[in-house]
Amino acid sequence: MTAHRTITVATAAPYDVTVGENLLPEVVAAVPEAATRVLVVTAAPLRRHVGNLKALLDARGLTVVIAEVPDAEEGKTAEVLAFCWQVLGKSDFTRSDVVIGFGGGAVTDLAGFVAATWLRGVGVIQVPTTLLAMVDAAVGGKTGINTSEGKNLVGAFHEPLAVFCDVRALDTLPRNELVPGLAEVVKCGFIRDQEILAIVEANLDGLRDADLDAVRPVLVELIARAIQVKADVVAADLKESFLREILNYGHTFGHAIEYTERYQWRHGAAVSVGMVFAAELAHLAGRLSEAEVERHRAILSGLGLPTSYPGHRWDALFTAMKRDKKTRGDLLRFVILAGIGNPIRLEGPDPALVQGAYSAIAD
Ligand SMILES: NC(=O)c1ccc[n+]([C@@H]2O[C@H](COP(=O)([O-])OP(=O)(O)OC[C@H]3O[C@@H](n4cnc5c(N)ncnc54)[C@H](O)[C@@H]3O)[C@@H](O)[C@H]2O)c1
Repeated sequence: MTAHRTITVATAAPYDVTVGENLLPEVVAAVPEAATRVLVVTAAPLRRHVGNLKALLDARGLTVVIAEVPDAEEGKTAEVLAFCWQVLGKSDFTRSDVVIGFGGGAVTDLAGFVAATWLRGVGVIQVPTTLLAMVDAAVGGKTGINTSEGKNLVGAFHEPLAVFCDVRALDTLPRNELVPGLAEVVKCGFIRDQEILAIVEANLDGLRDADLDAVRPVLVELIARAIQVKADVVAADLKESFLREILNYGHTFGHAIEYTERYQWRHGAAVSVGMVFAAELAHLAGRLSEAEVERHRAILSGLGLPTSYPGHRWDALFTAMKRDKKTRGDLLRFVILAGIGNPIRLEGPDPALVQGAYSAIAD
């Protein structure tokens, strides 16, 4: 069994993120003494894991209410939010009771927002069960839902009481969900912790094939390191600012791909292409060597992630980038690297550079 790793997120109310195996007893122990009821927000694919959690919560004498919500983005709606409030109301849920978000990023976003809004804020313990949710969604306090106006437009900052990333949960996660999550891990390597890149490079095959028996200890290390990067940034700045912006490396172009593809691409796959685009842009701006750009390609394609995009979609992508929330007025803004591990902002680059970077990733 791999040793647990704990990362403290030093925000106003500091909390721990624990990464390891078989963490359900720790989840139960994190429920505050004062709580008598627990609402577990989850989705159908997690039923088996949730059954085990419920048994342990029952054994502690807690009243457990399970809200099984529609899966993935279907669950991040105002209707589902209202359903959760109804469940809380019917179970006389008080300020000292606790919500547990148990699932992928869609579930942890919803559960966090349920907790943020009930009685103006009750405690939430996050148990992310996808790689993306572990390294990104469940840490940092951003919660929310989608509306017909767009994704994640309604939400709140609400920090959890604690986060538990149990790599055993990943055993049931389909490979096509696991590998895109690695893009966010690699991103943390490029923007801050270069040791992540070395570890990924040394384990490319096992990670690409999602050979979990072989790479479980490696995953614990990578998840802990990626969370440390996010924790450092979040602790320095709970609200948006440049430090928080570095987490958007690869995301301006990545979001444009997601939008153009009507959200049929996995987020991590779009961010993978977006990072290669940002690397090419940095190269054209004289900030990154050709070898450093190729390192992006070698790592990401070695993991089985895409690194190119069709060459005839420029107009759609450019329009999508201009509507990105990071854009100020008409100026496009990118996070690029001035050398690996040194992110900087590139604002209003010469359009010829942006087009040149696109040509370099076009297939
Ligand atoms: N709050 C933030 O800072 C933040 C950051 C990044 C992403 N997000 C949000 O996260 C969401 C994406 O998260 P995601 O990639 O985890 O997708 P997801 O939550 O849609 O999960 C993907 C699929 O995997 C299933 N699943 C989850 N864990 C499983 C497991 N252990 N075994 C088997 N199946 C499992 C889910 O039920 C779902 O069908 C988006 O809504 C995005 O907006 C939020």
